[in-house]
Amino acid sequence: TKIAVFASGSGSNFQALAESIANGKLNAEIGLVVTDKPGAYVVKRAQSLNIPVAELAPKSFEDKAAYEAKIVKLLKEKKIEWVILAGYMRLIGETLLSAYENRIINIHPSLLPSFPGKDAIGQAMEHGVKITGVTVHYVDAGMDTGKIIAQGAVDVVEGDREATENRIHKLEHLLYTKTLQQLFES
Ligand code: GRF
Repeated sequence: TKIAVFASGSGSNFQALAESIANGKLNAEIGLVVTDKPGAYVVKRAQSLNIPVAELAPKSFEDKAAYEAKIVKLLKEKKIEWVILAGYMRLIGETLLSAYENRIINIHPSLLPSFPGKDAIGQAMEHGVKITGVTVHYVDAGMDTGKIIAQGAVDVVEGDREATENRIHKLEHLLYTKTLQQLFES
């Protein structure tokens, strides 16, 4: 299964997927990494794995449709079948949604529908929940609103954001591989 990974930041989920592919846990190939943040750390990670990267600043396009049309062109050239969002901090628009209908997946660090949007871990800590977690879901036009595919729970470490965050990231890396493998197999 040929996939593209979209990321705006560190790319630890990208790295985890690449490792899962290398050790045979995920039957896929990452044909392209797309970032909307030129110079993001994910670019270094991709380059060191010899995976092609498209660094596209939305600002240098006329509008969102033009930005996404460029991405769709690259995806089609590389025969990408699925778009996998991993810390891509931007809503997906009509151009990409219609080109990859039901083929765009996201991972979010909370038990949706609780705490959508930015800083879900901070929101959960602030709210004082005792259990949070990770959600893998289909992407629609909304903010973390698409159909849920899989979830996993994490106990909050009270008053310790960093420890809670580490638990969440660890689970993300396992859950994303497992869920995508099931999806691609079916
Ligand atoms: C992850 O927590 C993911 O769930 C969220 O953004 C974060 C990305 O982290 N959407 P990384 O760039 O994969 O390290």
